[in-house]
Amino acid sequence: MSVTVFLAIVGAVLLAIALYDVLQRQHAILRAFPIVGHFRYLLEEVGPELRQYIITPNTEEKPFSRYQRRWIYASSKRQNNYFGFGTDQEVDGSPNYLIIKHSTFPERAPRIGDRDFDPAYRMPAAKVLGVARGRRLAFRPASAVNISGMSFGALSGNASAALNEGAALAGCLHNTGEGGVSPDHLRGGELIWQLGSGYFGARTAEGSFDLELVRATVAAEHPVRAIEIKLSQGAQPGIGGTLPAAKVTPRIARARGVPASVDCVSPPRHPEFLDVDSMLDFVERVAEATGCRWASSPPWATAPSGSSSPSAWPASPAGSTTAWSSSGRASSVSPNPHCSGSRSAATW
Ligand SMILES: Cc1cc2nc3c(=O)[nH]c(=O)nc-3n(C[C@H](O)[C@H](O)[C@H](O)COP(=O)(O)O)c2cc1C
Repeated sequence: MSVTVFLAIVGAVLLAIALYDVLQRQHAILRAFPIVGHFRYLLEEVGPELRQYIITPNTEEKPFSRYQRRWIYASSKRQNNYFGFGTDQEVDGSPNYLIIKHSTFPERAPRIGDRDFDPAYRMPAAKVLGVARGRRLAFRPASAVNISGMSFGALSGNASAALNEGAALAGCLHNTGEGGVSPDHLRGGELIWQLGSGYFGARTAEGSFDLELVRATVAAEHPVRAIEIKLSQGAQPGIGGTLPAAKVTPRIARARGVPASVDCVSPPRHPEFLDVDSMLDFVERVAEATGCRWASSPPWATAPSGSSSPSAWPASPAGSTTAWSSSGRASSVSPNPHCSGSRSAATW
């Protein structure tokens, strides 16, 4: 094919595109800028990748920077994950930059094989949840670092199961998020059950709060250690949240107690209370009906690191039937009468 024929074909194609652009009525940009307007759509398409891989610095981006992602990828593939962090950052000129100072004579880091090496070393929370209000089942979380709430529905069942198994391995608490307790939350990790304004997993068929169901769920086999009441959607203040119908599978619907394939709405406010007083009444009602499950260790059995004296630990709350040995550990536990839920929790 001669050059002239080739140029004629290219010219004809460009002319056809230009004619189409000028005559079409969908895109103002193409009408105003025939042919070159297409580059805008192309750049828009590849823009995120361009920014992510070429323009954005290694330490920016949320929720994870490129450096952090690199570490995660390498760790998940069991590759060498010894990367340096921080050396190319502006540490001196940035206000409030957190710096952990080196010790001149650091402690010896325990190594596998050392006598004092404990592979299950835990860093318990400093706070004993519930003790300030004298809850029957106040407890000290075994870990200061836990898994924040991400609902089943926003997360897949596999993701929820993986997090729960991880919580069991790490000995930390797994917050269910507001989507209810599902079978994927029952992989050995202990739970904080989050109750949001939709009361998913804790509602009647009509959608109102069902205290009996809460009581029954906690009293059943669910390893719920605490209940968290979520007041509103941080990401959508004043609006609430929606799980679109297409995402509400029968399994998700079951965990939430809502119909499948229908938009699942978290209202912007709790129907059960309207001010601080009524909110506290609600908290007390839920606490009174639950708080009745002992997990593997009793409430304050784990001393915070550095506190070896039982006298430094919080006292047994009033009404507790727990007997205390001289080591400060509970030696017997009586079942709590409030645990006998009259309705059965969902079976799967
Ligand atoms: C997929 C997904 C689902 C979430 N669902 C909930 C939820 O049900 N309840 C809640 O309180 N927060 C929820 N969050 C917010 C997280 O708990 C957390 O507060 C938020 O991701 C900010 O923390 P981060 O910066 O560590 O990601 C969700 C977050 C994600 C990414």
